[in-house]
Amino acid sequence: MALLEVNNLCIQFGGLRAVDDFNLTIEKGELYGLIGPNGAGKTTVFNLLTGVYRPNEGIIRLDGEDITGHRTTEINRDGIARTFQNIRLFADMPVIDNVRAALGGQYHYSLFESLFHVGKYKATEQAMTERAMSLLAVFHLDQYAEVMASNLPYGQQRKLEIARAMATNPKLLLLDEPAAGMNPNETAELMDTIELIRDKFDITILLIEHDMKLVSGICEKLTVLNFGRVLAQGETKAVLSDPEVVKAYLGES
Ligand SMILES: Nc1ncnc2c1ncn2[C@@H]1O[C@H](COP(=O)(O)OP(=O)(O)OP(=O)(O)O)[C@@H](O)[C@H]1O
Ligand SMILES: [Mg+2]
Repeated sequence: MALLEVNNLCIQFGGLRAVDDFNLTIEKGELYGLIGPNGAGKTTVFNLLTGVYRPNEGIIRLDGEDITGHRTTEINRDGIARTFQNIRLFADMPVIDNVRAALGGQYHYSLFESLFHVGKYKATEQAMTERAMSLLAVFHLDQYAEVMASNLPYGQQRKLEIARAMATNPKLLLLDEPAAGMNPNETAELMDTIELIRDKFDITILLIEHDMKLVSGICEKLTVLNFGRVLAQGETKAVLSDPEVVKAYLGES
């Protein structure tokens, strides 16, 4: 069974069909790319997959379960986590608290225990901190644990967003332009990190990206969107040499 199965997804904003008859199948463990020109509808696909928008038509199945119309928090519990094209961190909170906030749903103690710091409180807090630190270490961010998120360089903030998304234990991780604003060194390091988390956490990744070096370097399969519709789909190499794709997207950039 595919991990993600999307059939005939459509959403209309006024007169604009931002995503139209969109189909996508992603197998477990795949590293899959979603590419296409500005305004093609890529981020809108993420917003549909995560319940930010409700589709006008279509079905989204995760691990065989129909999740169409579920709310964003439900979908996160179902197993989809994402990062945003415009970074959304708790800017005024230390790096570690950004990750701890995302762990919240998995650790529990009573109000009484939290008010008086008794019972499970200390052990739970300790376990959360350790888990957050081990996630930060994967992204080489553990040394910045106490730094305000807004004081991290841009490339590190992007990595922190991924660490925070990983804290919710997703089956499917959606990355919206993770390399945007990164220099070539940061991008190369990010490519390694993305492959590492796919293998280490045994997850599936769908990523939107304009950096063709990154896309061709790590994505096994691609879907190209153009004006809200699928222009091409399949193995990365074949898709990138498809004359229609070159004409509509690659030729121009
Ligand atoms: N909430 C909305 N209301 C109206 N139009 C919208 C809304 N969200 C997206 N759109 C429109 O849908 C189209 C697709 O936008 P989207 O952000 O998905 O593109 P994109 O492929 O992510 O582009 P980029 O590469 O620039 O990020 C655009 O024309 C956009 O203006
Ligand atoms: Mg976008």
